[in-house]
Amino acid sequence: MAQPALADPPGTAHPAIWPQYHYPPTTDAATEARIADLLRRMTLEEKVGQMVQGDINSTTPEDLRRYHLGAVLNGGNSGPGNNDKALAPEWLKLADAYWAASTDRSQGGVGIPVIWGTDAVHGHSNIIGATLFPHNIGLGATHDPALIERIGAATAEEIRATGIEWTFAPTVTVPQDYRWGRAYEGYSSDPALVSQFVGAMLRGLQGPPDGHNLIASGKVIASTKHFIGDGATTNGVDQGDAAIPETALRDIHGAPYGPAIEGGVATIMASFSSWQGVKMAGNHSLLTGVLKDRMNFGGFVVSDWNAHGQVEHCTNASCPETVLAGVDMVMAPDSWKDMVTSLIAQVRGGVIPMARIDEAVTRILRVKARLGLFDAGAPSTRPLAGQWALLGSPAHRAVAREAVRKSLVLLKNDGVLPLHGKARLLVAGDGADDIARAAGGWTISWQGTGLTRADFPGATSLWQGLKSAVEAAGGQAELAPDGHYTQRPDAAVVVFGERPYAEFQGDLKSLQLTPDLTAPWETMRRLRAQHIPVVAVMLTGRPLFVNPALNAADAFVVAWLPGSEGEGLADVLVGDAGGHPRFAMTGKLPTAWPRTARAADGVLFPFGYGLTWRDRTRDWTPLSEDPGVAPTGDARRWFANGQPASGWSLRVEAADGSGSTRVTTVPVDALGGRVHVTARDFAVQEGARRFAVDDGAATIALMPPAPLDLAREANGDVMLLLTVRVAAAPAHAALGATCNGTPCTANVPVVLPANDRWVRYGLPLKCLAAHGADVSRLGEAFRLSVEGTSDFTIGEVRLGNDAETLLPCPNP
Ligand code: BGC
Ligand code: BGC
Repeated sequence: MAQPALADPPGTAHPAIWPQYHYPPTTDAATEARIADLLRRMTLEEKVGQMVQGDINSTTPEDLRRYHLGAVLNGGNSGPGNNDKALAPEWLKLADAYWAASTDRSQGGVGIPVIWGTDAVHGHSNIIGATLFPHNIGLGATHDPALIERIGAATAEEIRATGIEWTFAPTVTVPQDYRWGRAYEGYSSDPALVSQFVGAMLRGLQGPPDGHNLIASGKVIASTKHFIGDGATTNGVDQGDAAIPETALRDIHGAPYGPAIEGGVATIMASFSSWQGVKMAGNHSLLTGVLKDRMNFGGFVVSDWNAHGQVEHCTNASCPETVLAGVDMVMAPDSWKDMVTSLIAQVRGGVIPMARIDEAVTRILRVKARLGLFDAGAPSTRPLAGQWALLGSPAHRAVAREAVRKSLVLLKNDGVLPLHGKARLLVAGDGADDIARAAGGWTISWQGTGLTRADFPGATSLWQGLKSAVEAAGGQAELAPDGHYTQRPDAAVVVFGERPYAEFQGDLKSLQLTPDLTAPWETMRRLRAQHIPVVAVMLTGRPLFVNPALNAADAFVVAWLPGSEGEGLADVLVGDAGGHPRFAMTGKLPTAWPRTARAADGVLFPFGYGLTWRDRTRDWTPLSEDPGVAPTGDARRWFANGQPASGWSLRVEAADGSGSTRVTTVPVDALGGRVHVTARDFAVQEGARRFAVDDGAATIALMPPAPLDLAREANGDVMLLLTVRVAAAPAHAALGATCNGTPCTANVPVVLPANDRWVRYGLPLKCLAAHGADVSRLGEAFRLSVEGTSDFTIGEVRLGNDAETLLPCPNP
């Protein structure tokens, strides 16, 4: 084995020290000849088009016809007609429209059929009515690869019903720091456990490792992601840097790519993150040297959502480096047109050799051939297409329910579990009857926010599952989220935990719940004080410090993010009419559980821990309730409860810069009395600030303690959310920001009508960027400027996706 040369710059991998694998899919001579023939006839425009993927919110069928894009995707917030809640038939219709445009040869061209990628990461999870399986961390607790394969197969069928042929799954990350907001997308922190699942999931989604004609057999192509080291970033920061040696990168984070390649995975997604300071989307030694040349990966490499824009010397519009590094298809959701143009120019200018383009296109066409795409016809004519009964079918839901049963992990049980079927049950906690909470991120919307019960037809909440289980056995159930029952129960189930999140919005500073999520712990204590046995059920994407709940409850069950089949919980927790368990308790922790909110303080329950019905924890020694770190608020909440976030300041400024008043206590007269600031109620008493502005101009500003970098958020669909109640509308209003360093002020005109009710307005951060803000270093991150006499009350300012009213972004 070659020794790494010391002189190599950081981020340089040494392929010779990495394992070699066999890639089973092959192409026959006739297919190779067909691909070679296509390649000979394709223009440079057509070739480059194949290498670029646009998002359906920014790419019309007409665009596809004109620019020959090889693929489209629906990002987490995208859907047909810009509506991520569009019903399934709309997706199939749009798939047909893209296909027809891509294969239209009337203006010349070879007309290669497009493929559509979607994040079907826990079932076909963008589609209303689809079966929602537990997120991967829950599957990790099942230790059941055969079940994983059945989940993959069910997911493939539901995807194919909508005419889509590609999923950006499975995530084979090996998270090492659960503060990372994507940790739940990974099966486990243990490379061996993750590796055990990869082949099974691929068989379920794609079929056998060397399978062909996937479309004919009701399968889809998969994408293992994110290559490589996405779970290794320092402090668990999403899209951050993995500052680890090459051997750790290989042995921990590279491990699942062996079974991925030997399982015939068709595509691999390059990570947003970097290794030793070098962004993956630009790392030749890993993408080409290790993945393609050493590990023999024969499919194609796709990059992540504008990730190329983060590579050194690159922008979203231009990045020859990424193609030179080995990316075959560039995911350029809204930047695809610039990407096509710049790539063509870079090939013409000799920056990118034609051979590299031909290699990339050949890889893409081989995958398309393997799908059987060239002869498949329009999406709606293919096997399983339009079979809407497959979406959320009883058979698929049964698999999901089984997965929920097997994913539960029991951390404590003094004997209250399993519950007697004939019990009178109280079900409490804010998560008990909330399917969006149980489903987590990447569900219908990107962050899993903005959803109501109506968005989950056919699904069952944990409460509904518990109720029908006890009623079937002759017991009774009452739902009271705050625990105030009408009839004294024999036992209580209290459901609490995290709220949905995805990607960087879920990153944490420490392993604990924000204080607003721990109210159910009080409920547990109160019930226990009344001698009512308490079963705590935690909905969560990760292990967190929950010692107070472990102490307060008689039994503690981790349910992870179980998805749409809430009965799975009841199957295990509720026994039969004779008080005997109906199902075994088998789940085991897929990663260690921390003793405090700091992983460094050690482990409370090790990897693999999980009680069965035989185990009792009667001699429970109370755990320390000290989290070891101060509670951290939500960094995305800039103003709440009448106060700016810790370290932030709230100011009232004159438009001409002639004065500025920092608001600390109220009431206060700002700007020499021109703006009167008082307290009003919102959410809590005095939880809002009212601004009565005399004729003239004024700006309400929020300033962070240090310049704020919101580049990732602006690349995603994150919005600035302003909850305001307007009593007298200003003549003009604008939302904006200023930057630190070189001056740049964005001012986006907005209309805030007087209607005297609370409205949560949303302005995409992208819009601030389009209007000139350098979102990577915001000084005043929030500015509401008004002109004319006005009277309005601000309840909350934060980042998020759940706007009630979307503010339009005017052209700058
Ligand atoms: C995520 C990927 C996802 C892609 C498309 C990215 O931001 O990192 O995991 O597949 O978006 O939605
Ligand atoms: C998209 C996601 C994507 C994210 C990247 C969002 O706008 O909907 O699919 O992963 O941006 O930051």
